[in-house]
Amino acid sequence: MQTSAVDLNCRIPNNVGLADDPKVRRALERWQPRYLEWWRDMGPSDFATSDIYLRTAISVESGGWANYDYVRMPDYRWGIFLTPRQREAIIHVGDDTGRTAWSEVPGEHRNALRRLVVTQADTEPASVEQQRLLGRTAPSLYDLRNLFQVNVEEGRHLWAMVYLLHKFFGKDGREEGEMLLERRSGDPDKPRILGAFNQPCDNWLSFFCFTMFVDRDGKYQLAALRESAFDPLARSCEFMLTEEAFHLFVGETGMARIIRRSAQLARQDANGDVRAQGGIDLALIQRAVNYWFSYCLDLFGGEISSNAAEAFAAGLKGRFKESQRYRDHRALEGVYTLPVVEGDRLVDREIPLRNAMNELLRDEYIRDCARAVNKWNRVLAEEGSSVRVTLPSRRFHRHHGIYARHCFTPDGELIAPERFEASRDRWLPSQADQDYLAAIMQPVHEPGKFANWIAPPHRGLAGKPIEFEYVRP
Ligand SMILES: [Fe+2]
Ligand SMILES: [Fe+2]
Repeated sequence: MQTSAVDLNCRIPNNVGLADDPKVRRALERWQPRYLEWWRDMGPSDFATSDIYLRTAISVESGGWANYDYVRMPDYRWGIFLTPRQREAIIHVGDDTGRTAWSEVPGEHRNALRRLVVTQADTEPASVEQQRLLGRTAPSLYDLRNLFQVNVEEGRHLWAMVYLLHKFFGKDGREEGEMLLERRSGDPDKPRILGAFNQPCDNWLSFFCFTMFVDRDGKYQLAALRESAFDPLARSCEFMLTEEAFHLFVGETGMARIIRRSAQLARQDANGDVRAQGGIDLALIQRAVNYWFSYCLDLFGGEISSNAAEAFAAGLKGRFKESQRYRDHRALEGVYTLPVVEGDRLVDREIPLRNAMNELLRDEYIRDCARAVNKWNRVLAEEGSSVRVTLPSRRFHRHHGIYARHCFTPDGELIAPERFEASRDRWLPSQADQDYLAAIMQPVHEPGKFANWIAPPHRGLAGKPIEFEYVRP
């Protein structure tokens, strides 16, 4: 199965040849109503009958997914699209570099691959659940529409992963597909798999942090899986990445707009008091950045990881841009220098490169976040503010990995737990912060109008002006 034509007229739009694959097609058609039920119960609240100006993927070719129209979310055409391959794919990661990529799952890697696919898949519906109520407090129709675009695309990513489970993992895969609709973000009895996907995301500062930091984690995980020797997984990730880019745009520019507004309101107020003007102060923005960034760092897994080494050796996933950036795809030589805690201080330890694959990916992620933060700081400079946003140290506020058992300042200094607790409300959002955010987030539904705490974007979407009616009631 290399390239199949795009079939848009069947129940499940796809380019994976479902019409000629009755077993998988029937299994997915049985899953479809369960998915729609989940969407109705756990998808965006309140707007099921509104017309939303959305982009729907109609093919994988450039332009094929840039198709905009008004659609009601439950009628969105969730489909299965894999990037076509022109020629046979070659493994370019790990011990089997140079051999033909797998078009089926090799028995010895079945469990590990299933775990990778399920873990990735689980994040997609989780984020929709976390963002479920945000439509009620959207700062504009532009932002409301962007929220829904992100939500329907996360739904489509779930479809892509469930296709892989049904097609390549037999009965186990079908059972996993069911469980993906049964777990619930934040539910103590049946939580989503990863920590960040069980945190509440109930205000728009959190939403923009989420799409900035958590979706960006998704980008790097997908980029690692795009290098996989399991070719159908590689191809599904490639197409998801095109959609993910928009989610990152929403987060990065959303934060930039809040930051700009914050600086403007500080200037307007005689005492520089942003909250007195109904805005979000930079100290709170910094706390939200500290919170979401630290939770996202956990998503990359342990710093010293034999699992990561095995996954790399087997070719299950690669480094960021493995094929373009690296010449030695086996990574058997070389070390990574990592500061570890010994007694009451940090000392550098050298670890074999393959065991540091998680840390290498975390490095790429941190660099990308730092680039965005620099942009925000240029906005602050433009607005005449001397305050700057920073990323906390990768050791700060961690829940997984070698730093999780210790306490650090945002600068990365090792401190006693009592000192961390005493500073918690200065470094992380407090209950008072949450209450304040809840109080200022009132919906703005007039076309072209924006809530006071956020600046308008520079331009509208899909060639439409900012005043366009992106959501019709
Ligand atoms: Fe996604
Ligand atoms: Fe996303």
